[in-house]
Amino acid sequence: MKERLAKLLDQGRLEIDTASDPERVEALRVKYLGKKGELSQVLGGMGKLPPEERRALGEVANAAKAELEALLVKAVQRAEDARMEQALRGPRLDVTLPGRGLGPGRRHPVSRTMDDVIRTFARLGFEVRTGPEIELDYYNFEALNFPHDHPARDMQDTFFVSAKWVSGPEVDHPGNPVVLRTHTSPVQIRTMLEEKPPVRVIVPGRVYRRDSDMTHTPMFHQVEGLMVDRGVTMGELKGTLDAFAKAMFGAQVKTRFRPSFFPFTEPSAEVDISCVRCKGKGCRVCKQTGWLEVLGCGMVHPNLYRNVGYDPEQVQGFAFGMGVDRITMLRYEIDDLRMMFENDIRFLGQF
Ligand code: PHE
Repeated sequence: MKERLAKLLDQGRLEIDTASDPERVEALRVKYLGKKGELSQVLGGMGKLPPEERRALGEVANAAKAELEALLVKAVQRAEDARMEQALRGPRLDVTLPGRGLGPGRRHPVSRTMDDVIRTFARLGFEVRTGPEIELDYYNFEALNFPHDHPARDMQDTFFVSAKWVSGPEVDHPGNPVVLRTHTSPVQIRTMLEEKPPVRVIVPGRVYRRDSDMTHTPMFHQVEGLMVDRGVTMGELKGTLDAFAKAMFGAQVKTRFRPSFFPFTEPSAEVDISCVRCKGKGCRVCKQTGWLEVLGCGMVHPNLYRNVGYDPEQVQGFAFGMGVDRITMLRYEIDDLRMMFENDIRFLGQF
């Protein structure tokens, strides 16, 4: 029996010393010291021994039990330390792996077009002005000669905003509804209220309409232009826009002015350019017409001068407004407008 005990102790020392995780240590505790464990089994036969031998064996057994217990306590500590150290060290880091480099950034195609439009007009002497995207109904419609119940408002249905979001000039127009601006034209009014002629400005910005399909997004971009001085004629309007079209799309591009209607210009026109893709022969992009519509324009309506305190007998001027997103689509042959606002790097990385 003594030998069995000695063997048990040897085996226990070996196993417990090499146990490396807490689960394994617990299993060994059950195996050696548990109620049905090895030690209990060896000692099970002790009752049959004569008292002398029983006492001697009892001492050896107690010593063995104490040693195993001490070893188990140490093993638990060791296993927990090892686990903690592993956790602190974190996952293995292979410093020889290649890095995940950051590619160079690029500007959004709409921003690039916007900059090109601005640069082109800057060369013609226009200065940049901006205005708020959350705008008073008064500047967005009323002061631009849209009567309250005029159907032209339906073409620019928009989002109405709780007035507490706007600060500043609305105190001059108490009770006036607040909208997300549907075009950059309200900045015509804001500019004329603050500056005296000659005025020569372009206005880049975001605008909003209640629209959403292949060719319309609820938010899009415009650049507005306004020139007011003495003796400005429609000839200057045409010359300016023709120069812009050639600078933007190439010297061979032709322009065409078609009569149109806007409440804030009279006369009004839409401007087409000859198709940039087929050069006017007719293709998918221009729907076989040879022409692409790029902007609206006209001579500033005298009512606007009255609304801002200019004398309509003294000054004349022209205004125009273009959709920058549409021009971007034409330049880069993008056929779904929505792709430009999905922020997909696979799309944006192509420009
Ligand atoms: N604001 C008009 C629109 O959004 C465009 C425009 C601007 C037309 C200036 C004439 C003069 O449709």
